[in-house]
Amino acid sequence: MNAQTIMICSGKGGTGKSTVSVLVGAKLAARGKRVLLIELDSGLRSVDVISGVYGKTVYDIEDVLCGRCPGEKAIVQSPLYPGLSVISAPYEGGEVRAAPLAGLILAMRDYFDFILLDTAAGMGAPFCAADQLADRALVVLTPDPIALRDGRIVADTLLQHDHAPSSVRLVVNRVSRSSFGRDSAVYDLDECIDTVGLQLIAVIPESRELQQAGAAGTELPPGCLAALAGEALAGRLLGERIPLVAL
Ligand SMILES: Nc1ncnc2c1ncn2[C@@H]1O[C@H](COP(=O)(O)OP(=O)(O)OP(=O)(O)O)[C@@H](O)[C@H]1O
Ligand SMILES: [Mg+2]
Repeated sequence: MNAQTIMICSGKGGTGKSTVSVLVGAKLAARGKRVLLIELDSGLRSVDVISGVYGKTVYDIEDVLCGRCPGEKAIVQSPLYPGLSVISAPYEGGEVRAAPLAGLILAMRDYFDFILLDTAAGMGAPFCAADQLADRALVVLTPDPIALRDGRIVADTLLQHDHAPSSVRLVVNRVSRSSFGRDSAVYDLDECIDTVGLQLIAVIPESRELQQAGAAGTELPPGCLAALAGEALAGRLLGERIPLVAL
């Protein structure tokens, strides 16, 4: 087995990278895939809470990258989403470097189908390390002009760094009926796509269930709209042709 590595990035902070990382990881795992989610956001961790591993982690990604423990010791199984394994970010930030991260990915490749790299906002060390190592990228943006403009810069950077256009996709997150229209700052999804310059792979609705489950560290109710959008995203990553449906 040879895991596919997918980075999740944004540009602007708080667009939902960690939330979408756990969502798509959970849904790939629900499809029987073995998924390792690594949070690279040193000092600002949140994946531990969203995936339910909070309080269960002894070692974090910095311990692994600094050689203080082997990768397998830092892996914690999500109690909420069977099949989803997590390596948490440290509470205090060291810099993520590409070389040891590459070593970890190499060591883990045979044991997983997908390795998800949840990066920090912007194009700092976590982004640069993931950029060098990922097979594919998901750019997660909210439908607002600043997120989209910053997303364009991130998308252009990825494409300039030899990622094939087909391997870099746009996820528009937190979409509601009021996101678009004449009175909104962004007219429609086409404007998102045109501004960022990437093909759309998923639209995730604004979801109280997703927000509450993430904040409380509880399972996302399987039938809710956000869960269905996550299932569709996972299916598309697996190569299935699933139409994007209007909310
Ligand atoms: N689709 C959604 N519906 C409702 N709330 C959402 C949705 N996606 C994310 N959120 C909320 O937005 C906030 C930020 O999400 P999250 O931490 O996943 O963003 P991030 O991009 O990882 O942030 P950072 O840049 O700090 O790493 C959280 O409170 C989360 O619950
Ligand atoms: Mg995050």
